[in-house]
Amino acid sequence: MIMKSWVLWLPFAWTVCGANFSPPVVNVSLDQEPKLRWWPLKKLYTEDFLQKAAAQVIDSTVPAWVHHAVKPVVRALEKFIPQPYADEIRGMAAFYGSDISDILLLNFAYEVSAFCTSIVAQGTNGNIFHGRNLDYPHSVLKNLTIDVQFIKNGEVAYRGTTFAGYVGLVTGQSKNKFTVTGNQRDKGHWWDNVISAFLLKNSPVSWLVRETLEEASDFLNAAIQLAKVPIIADVYYIVGGAYPGEGVVITRDRNGPADIWPLDTLHGNWYRIQTNSDHWLSPPIPDHRLEVAMKALNATGESNLNVSSLYQVLSVRPVCNNITVYTTVMNAAAPEEYRTVVRETCG
Ligand SMILES: *[C@@H]1O[C@H](CO)[C@@H](O)[C@H](O)[C@H]1NC(C)=O
Ligand SMILES: *[C@@H]1O[C@H](CO)[C@@H](O)[C@H](O)[C@H]1NC(C)=O
Ligand SMILES: *[C@@H]1O[C@H](CO)[C@@H](O)[C@H](O)[C@H]1NC(C)=O
Ligand SMILES: *[C@@H]1O[C@H](CO)[C@@H](O)[C@H](O)[C@H]1NC(C)=O
Ligand SMILES: *[C@@H]1O[C@H](CO)[C@@H](O)[C@H](O)[C@H]1NC(C)=O
Repeated sequence: MIMKSWVLWLPFAWTVCGANFSPPVVNVSLDQEPKLRWWPLKKLYTEDFLQKAAAQVIDSTVPAWVHHAVKPVVRALEKFIPQPYADEIRGMAAFYGSDISDILLLNFAYEVSAFCTSIVAQGTNGNIFHGRNLDYPHSVLKNLTIDVQFIKNGEVAYRGTTFAGYVGLVTGQSKNKFTVTGNQRDKGHWWDNVISAFLLKNSPVSWLVRETLEEASDFLNAAIQLAKVPIIADVYYIVGGAYPGEGVVITRDRNGPADIWPLDTLHGNWYRIQTNSDHWLSPPIPDHRLEVAMKALNATGESNLNVSSLYQVLSVRPVCNNITVYTTVMNAAAPEEYRTVVRETCG
């Protein structure tokens, strides 16, 4: 089902078509029951829009026959999902008016489909900057992008950028502690991941990011948690801290770290760039995103690094390209600088 005329927005502040825009900020309160926490989305999207957008994403990622074949299986597996995700997903399905198996699939479909560029870099003053582009060949996600503030005891405990309907995070910040992004490193099919999730009881990669944001007390503990805890798919986790030297790319296998690649400013390595291939291998197809991002960062220079200049680096083609959904830049030590821009253009 390809939807053509589904745009049914409640009035809110979009800028004109064709321009980049900031996504809506949503407060999700962890003090509330998981089933009810995501209800603030109702203020932003009509049920009809969310349903159709979800259908579009599923149809583009899961072959129709597979979708039908796995529905009963996925529904049966629902009871194995750990809390709070199970109830969050049930709550989401309730207000989407959707089949729970579809919302579950949506949460897994995304796990395997995103291409990205992440950069962690240190300026001459020792500040750590972290930015990412999320590339996904589906423009409907632009209108589903949300910045979420997770509230605990009335305060923002951590924040992140995600899509309405997904309970996990691949971009997030624990203020004054660390920032995390996840990039796809996948060789298998999404159904391998589903099997891994339910049979091996591993976590989806985006749930581990959320748990780490919630639990880890600092950069080091975050890096250890992200490196060690079993997950359902291979992934790259990029982590930035609040203090000099705190930046690392963790290449993950399902069961543990395959490689740890920290900043090494003593030897001139003041940034690390991760796209979607292992940094120690030369990619089968030359990865122009990597080369161009390096050139742009070299041209910027350590002493001119800040969230704005990092955003500029992430705006250069083809680092930013026609499937880039959003760009986020952050600085754990200055959490208010967190900024996400949904991309209609790279300029
Ligand atoms: C997003 O919403 C805007 C405003 O309704 C609409 O003009 C635009 O076509 C939508 N874009 C996508 C990719 O769905
Ligand atoms: C979100 O919660 C924070 C902290 O309680 C509050 O300052 C802010 O106004 C809330 N924003 C929205 C959009 O509700
Ligand atoms: C960027 O600078 C580093 C260190 O000076 C150098 O090794 C690398 O070749 C440069 N890369 C590009 C693409 O300019
Ligand atoms: C960021 O650095 C650029 C130079 O690269 C500078 O022109 C700009 O004013 C700085 N912006 C902020 C917000 O500090
Ligand atoms: C994106 O660009 C590529 C090559 O530049 C082109 O083949 C493709 O059709 C474009 N896709 C979209 C969605 O515009």
